[in-house]
Amino acid sequence: MHEITYHTFVHENVKSFMEGFRYDAHPMGMLMASVGALSTFYPDARNIADAENRHMQIVRMIAKMPTLGAWSYRHAQGKPFVYPDNDLGYTANFLSMLFKMSERKFEADERLVKALDVLFILHADHEQNCSTNAVRSVGSSQVDPYSAVAAGVAALFGPLHGGANEAVLRMLRRIGSKDNIPDFITGVKEGNERLMGFGHRVYKNYDPRAKIIKKACDDVFEVTGVNPLLEIAQELEKIALEDEYFVKRKLYPNVDFYSGLIYEAFQFPPEMFTVLFAIGRTPGWLAQWLELVQDKEQKIARPKQIYTGDRTLDFTPASERWS
Ligand SMILES: CC(C)(COP(=O)(O)OP(=O)(O)OC[C@H]1O[C@@H](n2cnc3c(N)ncnc32)[C@H](O)[C@@H]1OP(=O)(O)O)[C@@H](O)C(=O)NCCC(=O)NCCS
Repeated sequence: MHEITYHTFVHENVKSFMEGFRYDAHPMGMLMASVGALSTFYPDARNIADAENRHMQIVRMIAKMPTLGAWSYRHAQGKPFVYPDNDLGYTANFLSMLFKMSERKFEADERLVKALDVLFILHADHEQNCSTNAVRSVGSSQVDPYSAVAAGVAALFGPLHGGANEAVLRMLRRIGSKDNIPDFITGVKEGNERLMGFGHRVYKNYDPRAKIIKKACDDVFEVTGVNPLLEIAQELEKIALEDEYFVKRKLYPNVDFYSGLIYEAFQFPPEMFTVLFAIGRTPGWLAQWLELVQDKEQKIARPKQIYTGDRTLDFTPASERWS
């Protein structure tokens, strides 16, 4: 923990680099670019065969991701970057870098720190999901870990993966009131759109993480007051869990269904949700990367391609095409 706390600072040039983004840059794009850019600040990271060196880069990345994430947020807000406060724990320091203004010290409510801690832990690792697979695939070329994790951030950016909780919030807002839920459900069943925050490639029953998040929701709302979208979410869940369409397809709430509501209670804009996910997932990506690079049997990723198309297509040779 001490090591992580003492590597939270980034090189001052990272700051100027991040200031160069457009005022409306998506914080996830900024995170992806800046974590990749760290590879240029630590060229020794390419020496992935050395155990001590690998450890150093892992510590650096876990420590610096909250700094990069918080600065991506501050940039969009047009607020000055806040330097890390090494007296604070991991999550409390992150909240300070996000929300500190002119006060000498930013001290977040302990209940909020705990809830965000829980969310980070819940997101830490989750088998061979899309972004972990991206980290492993890119890492298998023996590139440095910053570049491999940048690939993970890119994969997480997509709405079918980490972007789902942002999509849930947009969906709830669009539904607007409990009265509109039946029409919305009919549209989903007709295939017009998906019920975001429902369904999972692996979990074909209630996502165990969703249960814990529901509890964290209560703790956070005790501090911030209840999010009015919660009522719509709860009703939507109730209706969907009783509807044959969802029951038959084993579609249950996943981790993203409620996490967005918590993030919103912290007053994070939806674009920041995936950044929070990425910070939580970084230790998992790195654990997977470490396992990969230490595996003597590991080869470069190279999925087999099998041509299944037509083998009898006629064609005009290039030499005859323009005559
Ligand atoms: C997560 C997800 C990509 C997993 O997909 P998957 O395991 O490949 O499931 P499929 O896409 O094969 O879907 C199976 C069936 O359920 C339906 N389905 C799956 N998720 C659905 C959803 N969220 N809303 C409505 N229908 C859904 C599909 O249309 C399909 O129906 P069909 O058999 O009639 O064609 C998918 O459930 C989804 O898009 N969920 C919404 C996005 C989300 O919350 N992602 C976060 C994951 S943690």
